[in-house]
Amino acid sequence: MNQKVNLSNRLKIVASYLPQGANFADIGSDHAYLPAYVCLEDKTAKAIAGEVNQGPLDSANKTIQFHQLENRIDARLGDGLAVLEQGEVDQIVIAGMGGSLIRSILKSNPSIAKSAKRIIAQPNVDARMVRQWFDQNNFVLIAEEIVDEQGHIYEILVADRITEVSTPYSNDQQIKNKQFLLGPYLLKERTAVFKKKWMQEEANLERIISQMQQAKQVNNEKIAEFKTELHWIKEELHDEKTDA
Ligand SMILES: C[S@@+](CC[C@H](N)C(=O)[O-])C[C@H]1O[C@@H](n2cnc3c(N)ncnc32)[C@H](O)[C@@H]1O
Repeated sequence: MNQKVNLSNRLKIVASYLPQGANFADIGSDHAYLPAYVCLEDKTAKAIAGEVNQGPLDSANKTIQFHQLENRIDARLGDGLAVLEQGEVDQIVIAGMGGSLIRSILKSNPSIAKSAKRIIAQPNVDARMVRQWFDQNNFVLIAEEIVDEQGHIYEILVADRITEVSTPYSNDQQIKNKQFLLGPYLLKERTAVFKKKWMQEEANLERIISQMQQAKQVNNEKIAEFKTELHWIKEELHDEKTDA
């Protein structure tokens, strides 16, 4: 009953950005492993586990009952942030989905999203969309992590509702667009995992551009967009410069 939750490294990193005594929502919680882990580690934490699907909600309730956490984790069925009242939680976690879905969950209930002090997002792909949402909605990106777990590379983005913290982005819109794609902190650190991710993306983009150039109807605008992205990636992988 008091057994520990065997949490993935990816979700342990997410958990490390929750403060002591967190009062948080885990949206798309599936088995509720993250809230269970956090509440077992920190007796003062409490959570809401949101799920849009009944099957995962049942799994979440099983985990909660198994660990006797019924008084501290409330599992709720519903779409995205609709399971929350405004100001009900201080932190919101949305992990293990595409960036596009995470952004649409935030966009669907902006007043609830904006009532959180911190949002921790772990987009599986398209992290750029989440960075852009934060930037346009008064959340300052305060940290980023990149982790390789069994061959899959995940990014974790942490943003706080605007405080005194200064923006990590450049004033130059071109550089800012590059930072949206690659991550302003991740660009600075350029870890081995970051390089691995972007080497894979470089190969993908080269293949896509070459296919698009051979299409019957060539979409020059999209090709130019991809070429710009490829140029940014190559700059970071193959140039010595470090100024982005
Ligand atoms: C791949 S799992 C990720 C589980 C966990 N957050 C993690 O990172 O390991 C995605 C979960 O999000 C749920 N989900 C998808 N769209 C959702 C939405 N709009 N609102 C709430 N949950 C959603 C799915 O039912 C699924 O259980």
